[in-house]
Amino acid sequence: MKILVLGSGAGGGFPQWNCNCTLCAGQRQGQLSAHARTQSSIAVSADGQSWVLLNASPDIGQQIRSHPQLHPRHGLRDTPIKAVVLMDAQIDHVSGLLGLREGPCIDLYATPCVFEDLTTGLPLLNVLEHYCGTRWHIVPVAGHRLSAGFEIEGFASLRFTALAIPGKAPQYSPHRREQVVGDNIALLIEDLEQGGRLFYSPGLADVGEQELRWMSGADCLLVDGTFWEEEEMQRAGLGAQTASDMGHLPQLGTPARAGMLDVMAATSATRKVLIHINNSNPILDESSAQRRELDLRGIEVAYDGMEITL
Ligand code: MLT
Ligand code: MN
Ligand code: ZN
Repeated sequence: MKILVLGSGAGGGFPQWNCNCTLCAGQRQGQLSAHARTQSSIAVSADGQSWVLLNASPDIGQQIRSHPQLHPRHGLRDTPIKAVVLMDAQIDHVSGLLGLREGPCIDLYATPCVFEDLTTGLPLLNVLEHYCGTRWHIVPVAGHRLSAGFEIEGFASLRFTALAIPGKAPQYSPHRREQVVGDNIALLIEDLEQGGRLFYSPGLADVGEQELRWMSGADCLLVDGTFWEEEEMQRAGLGAQTASDMGHLPQLGTPARAGMLDVMAATSATRKVLIHINNSNPILDESSAQRRELDLRGIEVAYDGMEITL
């Protein structure tokens, strides 16, 4: 299986357009060794020809332009992107659907509550009916159903399993305060021919026993790297919300709760990669102490254009 990181930043990307924090300003002025990052999305393929998009970032146009794998090949109008799977209904993960409107009808895989959000609070799918339209493939994670396997047409050698995970629905969603099963999913993707297993979860609020079990079965973890610590936004004067308020498990743990670093140390994946990095996270600075800590632990930081083969 081939994995292409199209965007490795959290909502707003890096540097964020309106942000003058030390990291954003430092990157803009060339004073930091830190790469710019577009908003999070990856593409997955079994053969390098056809691709499934996991989340559709508002930066999708730029992302497709800079990845030849996703350019049109045959005839006058064409795309190797055959399907889109949504992990949640967050603006940074869905608004790129609008950027696909010039193409064919979109084969869209999502849970019932994501379809609900995208036809009510943020009615992108209603709007798209006037353009390319979407073909709905319901991933039945809802109510008491906490996981569901599904197949994507044309990707017979990949097995997808969606898992309900702790997280936050978008701010515009009626479920923002009380999570509903299916608001946030992680994906386990197995290559039935090559044997590789990817665990993908760009927004993950907590790792309990169940999540740890799923993560432990993967060869590659590509998981929530939004915040280094719980009160990062407050400390930097960038916002009032904590990592938990926003539905993200920080890398650094506390005596009361294991952080993503502890979680990753408890798994035996050969690749451990953080993605969806917020512009406030010191790991963006390649010469930071926090980045050294990751190096020591064998944890990688995803970057735009990163390719992983499993
Ligand atoms: C989040 O995951 O919390 C988002 O990046 C927020 C946003 O899109 O603004
Ligand atoms: Mn996000
Ligand atoms: Zn910033």
